[in-house]
Amino acid sequence: MIIYINDKACEAQKGDILLEVARRNKCHIGYICGGNGICQSCFVTVSEGMEHLSKPGSDEKAFISDRLFEAGGRLACRTRVTGEKGTIRLLSRTENLKRIVLGLNVPASSLTPRPLDTMFSKNSRKEQAASLKEYGTEESTRERPSQKSAAE
Ligand code: FES
Repeated sequence: MIIYINDKACEAQKGDILLEVARRNKCHIGYICGGNGICQSCFVTVSEGMEHLSKPGSDEKAFISDRLFEAGGRLACRTRVTGEKGTIRLLSRTENLKRIVLGLNVPASSLTPRPLDTMFSKNSRKEQAASLKEYGTEESTRERPSQKSAAE
């Protein structure tokens, strides 16, 4: 059985726990509680091969909603490999967030650079400056509690 954890291929056997497979192969999945099912730092999103994994137990269901399960959400420390052949793909929460921030999960078409004039309206800088000025003026005229008590 091959498990791709954050795109790194890892060998796994039936009965292995996903978190242990990750640790053995030096793939980053968090485990703050040491694999005791209470911290959720080992949350992963399975994109392929959910049929090769154990069904979620009550301890996992306590943390993960039905909607998240349907989207592939699992706790790696509570999930065992049940299949002998096949492929499983998953991303850790941290890796998923990193890819979102870096734009790596965004469809390629939306990564095509756009001309600047389509990204900002002509007046956007002026509008931004005006709103900042307005905010600054409002802030500077607002009486703070410490100033009020000092004046009295
Ligand atoms: S390692 Fe803490 S819930 Fe899995």
